[in-house]
Amino acid sequence: MDTPRIVIEEQRLDANIEAMAAMARKAGVALRPHIKSHKLPQIAHKQLAAGACGITVAKLGEAEVMAEHGIKDIFIANEMMGPEKFARLHALARTVKLAVGVDSLEGAKALAESIRAQGSRMQRILDVLIEVDSGLRRCGVEPGKEVVRLAKDISKLQNLRLRGIFTHAGHSYGAADRTELEKIARAEGKVMVESAYDLRREGIEVEVVSVGATPTVAISAFVPGVTEIRPGNYVFYDAMQLALGVIPSIEYCSLRVHSTVISHPAPNRWVLDAGSKALSLDKGAHGHSGVEGHGIIIGQPQLRLVRLSEEHGVAEGESSLKVGDVVEIVPNHACTVVNLFDEVEVWHGAEREVWAVAARGKNR
Ligand SMILES: Cc1ncc(COP(=O)(O)O)c(C=O)c1O
Repeated sequence: MDTPRIVIEEQRLDANIEAMAAMARKAGVALRPHIKSHKLPQIAHKQLAAGACGITVAKLGEAEVMAEHGIKDIFIANEMMGPEKFARLHALARTVKLAVGVDSLEGAKALAESIRAQGSRMQRILDVLIEVDSGLRRCGVEPGKEVVRLAKDISKLQNLRLRGIFTHAGHSYGAADRTELEKIARAEGKVMVESAYDLRREGIEVEVVSVGATPTVAISAFVPGVTEIRPGNYVFYDAMQLALGVIPSIEYCSLRVHSTVISHPAPNRWVLDAGSKALSLDKGAHGHSGVEGHGIIIGQPQLRLVRLSEEHGVAEGESSLKVGDVVEIVPNHACTVVNLFDEVEVWHGAEREVWAVAARGKNR
C-alpha cells in the first residue's frame, strides 16, 4: 500500500463511461472519446464496449500504443508536421482506420505530398478533418468562409479525403459561471453546424461534425447537425469539473491520489508525500477554473492543499490527521496526473488490479 499512487474506483469509472455512452445514444451522435485523459488501453476498450465508434488521441505515439492494443479506428485530433511523423503516420494508416486534423493549406499540402512521395504503386488516401476554432483560440480556422476556403483547397489535393470538421471548446474551462458555460457549449455546436451548412452549399460533402469537451458535451451534443462528440476527462472527472458544476458531487470522481502524511511540523500544517510530480500544478489552462488549492483532500473539509513542491504537498488548516495516515486526494486535473505515473491501481470492491499506463509520456 505504498504511496503516492493512483487509485481508480472501477465501478464509478464504469458508471461514468456508461452515462456518457447513454447520453450520446440519446442525442443520436457518435461517441469518439479522447483517450489522452487516461492513456490506458483497458479504459479505451471499456469505452468501445459501451458503444464508442472509435477513439480520439492527441499524439501519434498515443495512437501507436492504442493500435498495438487492438484499437482499429483512431482520429488524431491534432495537426501533424515533419517527415518523421509522416512516416509513422503512414505506417499506422496501413494497420488502422485513421484520420488526422488539419488547419492550414501548408499542413495539408505537406501531408498529401508525403503520401505521394511514398511512391507506392497503389494511390493511398488519408482522411482529414478540418479543425475549426470555436473560441479556444488555439489551433483551427475561423468558422464559415475560412473553413470553406480550406476545404476547397484540400479537395484539389489528390491524396487527402475530407471526412468532416472538428472543434474543441476548451475555453469552457475558463467559464466564470453556468450561464457562460452553457453559452460556450451552444456556440460550439452552432458554429460547427453552420460551417457544415456552408460547406454543403458549396457541394462539399461533410460526413462528420465533431465537437467535444467534457464541460460542454451535455449541451453541444444536442445541437441538431452535430454528428460526433469527443469528451475525454469524463471517465475520471476531477476538482475542476466539480468547480465548474459539470458534476453534482465529488462522488463522481473515479480517480484519486493516495498519499501519506509524512510530517506534521506545526499545529496547522501537514506535509504529504504527493507533490507536483504526483498531483501536477495544473489549475486549468484557460484562466479562471474555480479550484482552490492543489486538489481536494477527501473527508478533510478544513484542510487545504496550499502548496506543492516536487515531492511534498503542504496542507494547512484544521485536522486530526497524524503522521502515517493515508489520505485520498481528488486532483484538480486528472488527465495530467495519470501521465505522471507508470501504473494505476484499479479497485473493484475487494479486488485490486494494476494497469500500466501504456501511453504515458507519448509526447511525440
Ligand atoms: C481536440 C480535443 N478534443 C477533445 C478533448 C477532450 O476534452 P475534455 O478532456 O474536456 O473532455 C480535448 C482535450 O484537451 C481536445 O484537445
